[in-house]
Amino acid sequence: MKGRDIISAFDFTREEFMRLFNEAKICERERNLRIAEDKMAITVFLEPSTRTRLSFTAAMLKIGGKVMDFGSIEASALMKGESFEDTIKMIDGYDPDVIIIRHKVEGSAKMAADIAENPVINGGDGMHEHPTQALLDLYTMYKTFGKIDGLRIALLGDLKHGRTLSSLSYALSIFNNVKLYCIAPPILQMRPEVIEKIKDKMPCKFYNSLDELDEEIDVLYVTRVQKERFTDLQEYERVKNSYIVTPSLLSKLKKIPIVMHPLPRVNEITTDVDTMPQAKYFEQATNGMYIRMALLAEVMGLRIKSD
Ligand code: NCD
Repeated sequence: MKGRDIISAFDFTREEFMRLFNEAKICERERNLRIAEDKMAITVFLEPSTRTRLSFTAAMLKIGGKVMDFGSIEASALMKGESFEDTIKMIDGYDPDVIIIRHKVEGSAKMAADIAENPVINGGDGMHEHPTQALLDLYTMYKTFGKIDGLRIALLGDLKHGRTLSSLSYALSIFNNVKLYCIAPPILQMRPEVIEKIKDKMPCKFYNSLDELDEEIDVLYVTRVQKERFTDLQEYERVKNSYIVTPSLLSKLKKIPIVMHPLPRVNEITTDVDTMPQAKYFEQATNGMYIRMALLAEVMGLRIKSD
């Protein structure tokens, strides 16, 4: 994967997913690998981020590399009117080995990749995609079940605006016999262009609420209502409490699934779910660091091997 831009979850083949999972396992076991000592990453997060920025930073440090952070958009020359193109050209000129970028505009990561000579990893572009979140989501499922093939996965929440959900659906569609259940209030259902890309590859069923689900599932993937993507805040107010996962709601399901969430959580999973053995969301965030260690090494052409 040396030198490759990572823009979409469709950028990975099944074999590459499996290779990354195995390398992430080595990273998890070894914890620190000194393989990137002469490498530098630049992180450019022009939208709020906690986990993605921090876990990419931790991942780079743990493989022995260095990280330079662009800082906040407010403190940058973008506020003086510098164009996105010029900013990327300038960053690329410092010759980083990889650039990790997040931006509120859909397609911005692709645009940056077209400008930059060095590899660009998409850390989230608007509501479009978040491919490395899909990587850590699949890695968490793989660690739990030992496979991705055949899993039954329900997505619950703001499926319309959530970029983690489009990338996750694309990634799952590469595997065999996965069944997808999309559960959302009608105005938050998955966007047609996302459904279009997966519908011939994987069976998808649509529901308005979790109580309607009549089949056993292995994974319940919950997301927050993406307030910042609403143009009409009254609409946000109407849907913001429309689903809340509690232990009693989970116990009504045919089988209690594992519960995943990309985080941050607002109120859609109550904190008393956290102590259930099925709650995987904090482990999921930790897995993000290990799989990003593996991905960074791959993109920079470095070999991960156990000592
Ligand atoms: C997600 C994002 O930024 O899309 N967060 C993350 O990267 N873990 C999900 C969200 O913001 O709801």
